[in-house]
Amino acid sequence: MNKSIEQIRTEALEEIEKAGDTEQIKAVSVRYIGRKGIVTQYLRDIAALPASQRPEAGKKANQTKKAIEKAVEKALSKLALSAKDAADAIDVSLPGRVSPRGSLHPVTRITKRICHIFERMGFDIAEGPEVETDYYNFEALNIPKNHPARDMQDTFYISENIVLRTHTSPIQVRFMEASTPPIRIVAPGKVYRCDSDLTHTPMFHQVEGLLVDENVSFGDLKGLLTLFVQQMFDEETGLRFRPSFFPFTEPSAEVDIQCVMCRGEGCKVCSGTGWLEVMGCGMVHPAVFENVGYDTSTYSGFAFGMGVERIAMLKYGINDLRMFFESDIRFLRQL
Ligand code: DAH
Repeated sequence: MNKSIEQIRTEALEEIEKAGDTEQIKAVSVRYIGRKGIVTQYLRDIAALPASQRPEAGKKANQTKKAIEKAVEKALSKLALSAKDAADAIDVSLPGRVSPRGSLHPVTRITKRICHIFERMGFDIAEGPEVETDYYNFEALNIPKNHPARDMQDTFYISENIVLRTHTSPIQVRFMEASTPPIRIVAPGKVYRCDSDLTHTPMFHQVEGLLVDENVSFGDLKGLLTLFVQQMFDEETGLRFRPSFFPFTEPSAEVDIQCVMCRGEGCKVCSGTGWLEVMGCGMVHPAVFENVGYDTSTYSGFAFGMGVERIAMLKYGINDLRMFFESDIRFLRQL
């Protein structure tokens, strides 16, 4: 026994501390407390000591053995833990997973834009039912049963007196019934017609406008719609009012804007005319006012109605209306 047990213990613990992997730790363990290990040997040699020294020496040697065992165990479990940490670790430098984001449908976007232009000019938004009574869709708008004007709109009938609304104009009537002038509203929504080809779909969208007050003139209507066209398209876009007929307005007009493609020169889009039809409008017919109980000697007003898809087609240069409803993501992404 040339080294003291304390010295052996210090050295053993130091070696365990330095050991970098499981193998090395185990090797230290064998060297000190294995069958032929230093501490094991030391314990055996105690038998040769004088009886008076044996208990003290035995106690110290056993303590040393235990301390080494404990240190080995601790070192091994520490190593196992750090291996597990490495396996569980989150790599913060990995690029994140981006979830796909949708966007508004072009028809929704154009609807919002149309409404927003009028909202800025003091108009409120009004809505109404898509399944409508014959009365609100036709009769109250001065389109009596069996009147030839009903031919203008191919209607889906739910029953004799219930229809899918063919336009957003019934909202005018519902709104006037429920309020007193002055009125300034735009009414967006879906409308339905029994019609389907390159330029017609059984469902499409309209925005209706209505202004009622005292002393409203056709000049006010022209001014308002001119501002609208300039904001929807651009300042240079010219427009013209063409006399037309609608049962619920008198006089009535159709609004044409200068072709957005050729600027009025004449091209395929405008069939060589230089003009594109964008909406109908007119001064509210006295019969409509009478139906909602307004005094026609006090109030006058104007109304207008436009197809949202039509505006969207002109704005985005699309020539097939059906594209809007086919949900082809490649088409939608382009807009
Ligand atoms: N409701 C008409 C249609 O669907 C559009 C329209 C024309 C609305 C003239 C109006 C208007 O308010 O004054 O064809």
